Amino acid sequence: MDLKSFIRTIPDYPKAGIMFRDVTTLMGHPQAFRRAVDELVQPFAGLKIDKVAGIEARGFILGGACAHQLSAGFVPLRKKGKLPYKSISQSYELEYGIDELEMHEDAVAPGERILVVDDLIATGGTAEAGIKLLQKGGAIVEAAIFLVDLPELGGTQKIEALGVPTVSLMRFDGH
Ligand code: PRP
Ligand code: MG
Repeated sequence: MDLKSFIRTIPDYPKAGIMFRDVTTLMGHPQAFRRAVDELVQPFAGLKIDKVAGIEARGFILGGACAHQLSAGFVPLRKKGKLPYKSISQSYELEYGIDELEMHEDAVAPGERILVVDDLIATGGTAEAGIKLLQKGGAIVEAAIFLVDLPELGGTQKIEALGVPTVSLMRFDGH
């Protein structure tokens, strides 16, 4: 099954010159979604993964499915101001300005082994913020996993420079 063929590309969205890689078409296809989740978790099936951390919003969809598949817990890494309990925060750069990811301060315990999941890695700023939150909580980030990598934007290198192995199921050159 060619998973890449299930990603819809929308030219000039959200602005001229951007090729938007839309994962909803893959997620909406029963066999493609099953296969994508199976392939994402396959390298970790024999390891002890305590929790999967999904990055809001699209990372929740895959992260929840991966956690269930691995019989792991799930940790939401949320955009600023959404979590009800005491939280820790990590800022990251957007194309224009700065945003923050947050995590409940007791979401992970020291030494827990965690997978970070998101739909896509571009500059890697979002995933880096998520990894830093988990590491601040004392967790061990085993790997960061994505459906889509946009390698020209350097995100995978940025995450691997943190010492976190990175796995993506497909790459798109040109963005
Ligand atoms: C997109 C995507 C990743 C992030 C990747 O999320 O889902 O989370 O950008 O970009 P980066 O590697 O350059 O940080 P977005 O912020 O658009 O929000 P959403 O998932 O809530 O739609
Ligand atoms: Mg996102």
